[in-house]
Amino acid sequence: MIYDFNKVTDRHGSNSIKTDLALARGKPADVLSLWVADMDFPTSPAILEALHKKVDHGIFGYSCLDDSFFTALKNWMQTEHDFSPDRRELVTTPGVVFGIVCAIRAFTQEGEAVIIQTPVYYPFKNMIVANNRKLVTSSLYEKDGKWFIDFDDFEKKIIDNKVKLFILCSPHNPVGRVWIREELERIAEICLRHKVIVFADEIHNDFVYPPNKHTVFSTLSEEVAENSIVSMSVSKTFNLAGLQFSTNFIKNPGLRARFKAEFDKTGYDEPSIMGLTAARAAYQNGKPWLEELHKHLKSNIDFVRDFLKDKLSLVRLIEPEGTFLLWLDFSKLGTKLGLSDSEIDDIIVNKAKVWLDRGTMFGQEGEFYQRINIATPRPLLEEALERIANAFAAVVE
Ligand SMILES: Cc1ncc(COP(=O)(O)O)c(C=O)c1O
Repeated sequence: MIYDFNKVTDRHGSNSIKTDLALARGKPADVLSLWVADMDFPTSPAILEALHKKVDHGIFGYSCLDDSFFTALKNWMQTEHDFSPDRRELVTTPGVVFGIVCAIRAFTQEGEAVIIQTPVYYPFKNMIVANNRKLVTSSLYEKDGKWFIDFDDFEKKIIDNKVKLFILCSPHNPVGRVWIREELERIAEICLRHKVIVFADEIHNDFVYPPNKHTVFSTLSEEVAENSIVSMSVSKTFNLAGLQFSTNFIKNPGLRARFKAEFDKTGYDEPSIMGLTAARAAYQNGKPWLEELHKHLKSNIDFVRDFLKDKLSLVRLIEPEGTFLLWLDFSKLGTKLGLSDSEIDDIIVNKAKVWLDRGTMFGQEGEFYQRINIATPRPLLEEALERIANAFAAVVE
């Protein structure tokens, strides 16, 4: 292997929220962190080389997009996602969540309703609430180890609350679904029928495990493209979240103008030069690294599945179709040991000393679930699972 995804790089003291906020967030100082969705390995050497060149150039003044960036972006979208955005559609933001906030503010008024499908990435809810919009949730449901959309509930909630905006998570964090075309079409039809604008957060689109296939929401039809914003980023794909650069594609000129007007009000201006430099290098030369990363993630998923079977057989893995975040169901273990959701969480954090994301952070549907980030070297993943298995074994003794 050219890239060593099993080499452990110590992140402590590197201003990483994953490792350096443990005490501040009430976790033990020696906790092993597999919570927030970034990766524990350095990015692709091709990106590092581009960043080094920029550092050697030494000038970090105001920056702008150029043809080489857009060509690289477009080639990537075409090759990886059968998506051919026009340059005019592009609006960059310093992150996907920033784009979500622009959309909330652009397409709804205070008090108006925004719908999300819970359990889901928690900033969706937080941003809706923080901007004084009405939070409407439609619960996903689990059947035979797979999570699904309740379309009737989704439509009813839209009608009852006069919903104006839907924030779609595709692929879905944390339930690991890669929505199939038919599911997306049903969602799109409902939203068109009730004039609900769709913000499709597709940040996890480069983590899809075959035979699953990601469908870019706006490619469903011309009508859907006119009614949606699609947001993507190199930040998950190449572990560049700290460089704060993401891309939104808005085909409809009216929606784009409203989105940009909100963006302009924030006072944020040109994109970060390091974010832009890294993104261009990623799209141009990042593929070989990503291919190897996929092999590592696949083998980590296999490892978790086998580990659970051997040592934590009451914990169920929801088989991921996409993302590097696994959704683990502890409900049977809780029933067997007579433990509540918060007792399970306490054992994981304070006895096992492993920091995962507790399922209820994503919505009440996440009760008894924990989300584990497997984009980490195997030794860390193994240690985390061993610690968890030992901590529950100690409860039984
Ligand atoms: C679904 C989803 N959207 C957005 C983000 C964060 O995006 P950004 O850091 O670009 O704001 C994450 C990070 O975990 C995510 O899972």
